[in-house]
Amino acid sequence: MNNRRSVFLGVGSYLPEKILTNDDLSRMVDTSDEWIVQRAGIRERRIAADDQLTSDLATAAARQALDNAGVTADEVDLIVLATATPDEVFPATATRVQAALGMTRGAAFDIQAVCSGFIYALSVADSMIRCGQAEKALVIGAETFSRILDWDDRATCVLFGDGAGAAVLGAAPGTGANTDRGILSTHLHSDGRHHDLLYVDGGPSSPRRTGYLRMKGREVFRHAVSNLAGVVSEALAANDLSVDDIDWLVPHQANRRIIDGTARKLGLDASRVILTLETHGNTSAASVPLALAAATAEGRIKKGDLLLMEAMGGGITWGACLVRW
Ligand code: ACO
Repeated sequence: MNNRRSVFLGVGSYLPEKILTNDDLSRMVDTSDEWIVQRAGIRERRIAADDQLTSDLATAAARQALDNAGVTADEVDLIVLATATPDEVFPATATRVQAALGMTRGAAFDIQAVCSGFIYALSVADSMIRCGQAEKALVIGAETFSRILDWDDRATCVLFGDGAGAAVLGAAPGTGANTDRGILSTHLHSDGRHHDLLYVDGGPSSPRRTGYLRMKGREVFRHAVSNLAGVVSEALAANDLSVDDIDWLVPHQANRRIIDGTARKLGLDASRVILTLETHGNTSAASVPLALAAATAEGRIKKGDLLLMEAMGGGITWGACLVRW
């Protein structure tokens, strides 16, 4: 089982139909298009319909990823779904996706690392593929953050949106043409001391059963740039590569200034950064696979390109994944 690799076979995405613009928001809270664009780089975001759950978004993205990969659901033996907004406390939203896809075998479970969730999910699925526990995996990031936003808090409600992205990973021998292909490495970090920077003030074992997202934006910002630049450097060093080798940075789409700051700190030209933030907002665990799906659909990411995905989220958690496409 040694010398196996996880290669990307296809990606897919789903965005709800409803668009919420900055002007719409300025009629709900004391804000403006100018403030949001200047401070965050976001112009609009999608909002799930009342009857759409995270699993619905995830299933739509998964179907597209399977189609693009030319893989049928019954070939998949693992679903790892990253979300901070599951349909229910239990069972895992991944099992609802499994049922919706008509799968009756394999394993399906959720990962909770908030905005870093997709990188965590990739790392887990890659490890399981490498050690022979799975052959084909669906890795999904899906969120309905609109359900946990305090729509009276202008400092947070303007930043987030709903959506889902998915990737199909397949096992491949790490020899021959694949020596340099697939996931090269993943790097995960967390530091629970920073809980209060970004959290939801309620939950099943808390005094308040349901809660809303709370954030100390400025402090999150400060941690973000240094942690993200650090984990990117760590991933490059682990593979004896340099920033010049990166074809595309696919960052978590939290804030334009965080992305620009990270790229600047790394010395990476802005033309090599995939951006979807302007129309998606921050979709938490869905943002990296949504960006990946958009860039591959546009034909920007090509076979053989070196991709660096990175993310940071509540916890705090952060991580990176280096991939030869
Ligand atoms: N519209 C207008 N004014 C606003 C808004 C708004 N939507 N929100 C806050 N303000 C006001 C504040 O009340 C404050 O007013 P005051 O000076 O009169 O007190 C002023 O704008 C400045 O507020 P700051 O919070 O200091 O603004 P800052 O420049 O830091 O920008 C922001 C805020 C955009 C949230 C920034 O701190 C940021 O991007 N932080 C990172 C947040 C983030 O990306 N979180 C997610 C990452 S992790 C994850 O994805 C889960």
